[in-house]
Order: sequence, then C-alpha cells, then structure tokens
Amino acid sequence: MKFNKICVLGLGYIGLPTASTFAAHGVKVVGVDVNPDIVDILRRGDIHIHEPGLRETYKTALASGNLTVTGRPEEADAYLITVPTPFHEDRSGEYNGQKYKLADMRAVISATEAILPFLRKGNLVVLESTSPPRTTLELVAPILARSGLKAGRDFHLVYSPERVLPGQILRELIENARVIGGVTPESAQAGADLYSIFVKGEIIKTDATSAEMVKLMENTYRDVNIAIANEFARLADKFGVDIWETIRLANRHPRVKILNPGPGVGGHCISVDPWFFVEAAPELTPLIYNARRVNDAQPRYVVEMIRRELGSLKDKKIAALGLAYKPDVDDLRESPAVEVVHALQNEGAKVKAWEPFKPDAKLPGIDMAPSLDDALKDCDVIILLVRHTEFVNLKPSEISAATRARLIFDTVNGWNANEWRTAGFQVARLGVGK
Ligand SMILES: NC(=O)c1ccc[n+]([C@@H]2O[C@H](COP(=O)([O-])OP(=O)(O)OC[C@H]3O[C@@H](n4cnc5c(N)ncnc54)[C@H](O)[C@@H]3O)[C@@H](O)[C@H]2O)c1
Repeated sequence: MKFNKICVLGLGYIGLPTASTFAAHGVKVVGVDVNPDIVDILRRGDIHIHEPGLRETYKTALASGNLTVTGRPEEADAYLITVPTPFHEDRSGEYNGQKYKLADMRAVISATEAILPFLRKGNLVVLESTSPPRTTLELVAPILARSGLKAGRDFHLVYSPERVLPGQILRELIENARVIGGVTPESAQAGADLYSIFVKGEIIKTDATSAEMVKLMENTYRDVNIAIANEFARLADKFGVDIWETIRLANRHPRVKILNPGPGVGGHCISVDPWFFVEAAPELTPLIYNARRVNDAQPRYVVEMIRRELGSLKDKKIAALGLAYKPDVDDLRESPAVEVVHALQNEGAKVKAWEPFKPDAKLPGIDMAPSLDDALKDCDVIILLVRHTEFVNLKPSEISAATRARLIFDTVNGWNANEWRTAGFQVARLGVGK
C-alpha cells in the first residue's frame, strides 16, 4: 500500500517524533493535537518536550514543508493514534477487597471519533497508544464502524505498540523491531508497508490482540523484575549487605539478570501498563498486582530509611536531586522522586528540589530550586533520587564547598561512596544495610 499523506493524532513524546520522522522521509504529515498551547508552540517552530535530536528533526520536517500542525484531523491515507492512556486518578476497581487502577481510555475514544468523518475505503488506522487487551477489536473497531465501514473489509486496522526508550526515541523509532498486529493479515501488511517507510529494524506481523499483549507483557515483565530488585534491596538492608554488590555477583550467573532497585517505578508506561492486565483479569494476575504494590510502596520505604538515618525528619532541610522518573529525561509523570519529596514534606522536612531537565516545572506543593547551588546552599542532607548523568559526574569536593550538609543519601547507586567519604560526607545508600 502507498501512503502520500498521513495524520498523526497526539503530538507528545511518541506522536511528535513519529510525525517528524515520517515527514523527514518524504511523507506529507498532518500532526494533530487537542491542546491549543502545544499546537501554538509547534507552529512557532519550537517544541514542548525534551528529547535529544527532536528539535532538529522537527525543524527539518517543518522546513521540508511535509509537516503541518493543527487542532483537527484531515482526510489522509493513514491515521495514527498516539494519545495518552493513563489510569483514572479518581476511579478504581476492586477484586477480593483489593483495589486496582483502571485505564482511562477517553483520549483513545475521542481521537478515534475524530477520525470518523474522514475515514474512507482503503484507509489504514493504527492504534499506537498502549492499551488493554482487545482494545483494537472491542473499542476502536466498533467506534470506526459508525462510519458504515468495517475494519478488515473496507479499511485496514492495526495495533502497533511503541517501545522506544525516552532519551533515544529518534534512533530507536528507526532501529527497533516493530510488531504490527492487524485485524486481518491484509491489515498487518498495510501496517508493515507504512512503517517500512523508515523502520530499519525487523517488522513482525501478527494479530491485533497479540500485539497488545506483547506491549503489556514487555512492561509488566520489567515492573515485576524491578519489584523483586526492590524487595532484594529491602532484604539487603535487613541483613547488612550491599545490594549493588550482591546483584553484581548474582548477575555473574549466566542465566540471571537482576535489575536495579531504586526509589520506585514511574513514568507513563511501566508504572501504568501492568494495571491494564489486572483490570482485564484480576483473578489471573496476583503476581502482577503485588509487583505493582511493591513498587508503589518503594518511595515510602525510601523515606523510612531516610528517617531512620536522621532520627526525625521534622524541620530537616533536604536538597532533593532529581524529580524525573528516570535518568536524563524531563518526564515527571508518575515519578517516584516526586512522591519521595511529598512524603518527606508530610513528615515535616523542608525540601528543595532541583531538576535540571525541568527547572521551571511547577509542581503543587513542591519548592523547586532555581539551581543546584540554591538547592545545596542551606541544606542538612542531600538525597540523590535520579541517576542523571550530570549528578553522577558531580565532584564531591566541589559539593562539599557549596553546602553545609555532611550527609548524602543515594537511592540509585549514582555516587562512589568512598569519594564522598573522602570529601567529608557521611554516606547512606538504599539497599546497603549497616
Ligand atoms: N512516552 C513513552 O516513552 C512511551 C513509550 C511507549 C509507548 N507509549 C504510549 O504512547 C502513548 C502516548 O504517550 P506519550 O508519552 O506520547 O503521551 P503525551 O502525553 O506525551 O502526548 C500525548 C498527546 O496527545 C494529545 N491528545 C490527547 N487527546 C487527544 C486527541 N483526542 N486528539 C489528538 N491529540 C490528543 C495530548 O494533548 C498530548 O500532547 C501512550 O499510550 C503511552 O503509553 C509511550
């Protein structure tokens, strides 16, 4: 199938790089976002998210004349849905007295409905948003059927999960293997034709529900494995050993690959997607459910450790380094670092947070420092919450001169404890029992 023009709905971390990459490969792209502020920023030639290389790719796409940005879809050969699929903040499900989170599919529903007036025979519709199993068949297809056209007969419908790593999105979009799940084999082929415009990784065709499962299994696998690393860290604390060293040794086993513990799991994917399985089948998912609970409890565990170290948190002045949900990104969604800061404050601590990737972020109830120096200058304790490269590279001797704090608490194994001790700091680390 040939694609002269495509329409990408949702211009965030996934949609904007995807739209820009298609445009940079010669396809006419209409990028659509319902947020007028985002449309304004993009139309000015600026971008609203931090992702290495995105600004350049976006500018190239705009300059080529292939990419336009607007608030409404237009007629096109293919429609890509890249809108958010968070969980509901205010609603939850319950199974056997245990609460679980529910997927908020409103953006997928409204984006699908927005395509309806433009859908024509022979078109391709692709859902990229991470979604609960059977969403393509049972949510998207029925909405599109309101056009009078049937998925798989009159137009192609595909689920194709996005598995890029934030920080490396532009490279991984092109190089990663791509799973294309069609509602029919012909739909899968149409999806493969579309992505082969720029994908250099393997393109693997399957059915839509398998593709949905693949994406959820990938993120759930990581969540469960991080949960066990977090439990191992708690055990290491209890038994007086160093979790980082024991993981290093355990990973010398040829068939063991334990992930790293930390202050919790965040972001728009791993901390959200396992709930989609739990919601779909709570009776079948006790392990997935409990892994989520372990990881969700980890910020609280970190705060307990800090309290243990300090005696009391009341009126302690704390510099919190990093608020992003993982290293070297500006994404603060579901970030455990943010939760740690809130929990410290609830215990009476006075926290100043420094996030170099989003220094202007306005987070309710969080005192954002305008600079690292400002965060450090008047604090009693420094807590490392995110392994940003620039934090890892900090020189303990320089920090020593910039603060009166003499205690650091490292939750991500970002710092060499001996170097900090030599510079006069007392060092506490997650997963390192005394
Ligand atoms: N961010 C990641 O690293 C990543 C990785 C893999 C998969 N995903 C999945 O991709 C999807 C998108 O995630 P994201 O991080 O790009 O989200 P995002 O919040 O960065 O961007 C989504 C954009 O969609 C817009 N939007 C909402 N409703 C819309 C509608 N009806 N029509 C048009 N635009 C609409 C929003 O204004 C926003 O700009 C999610 O399902 C996510 O789980 C994300």
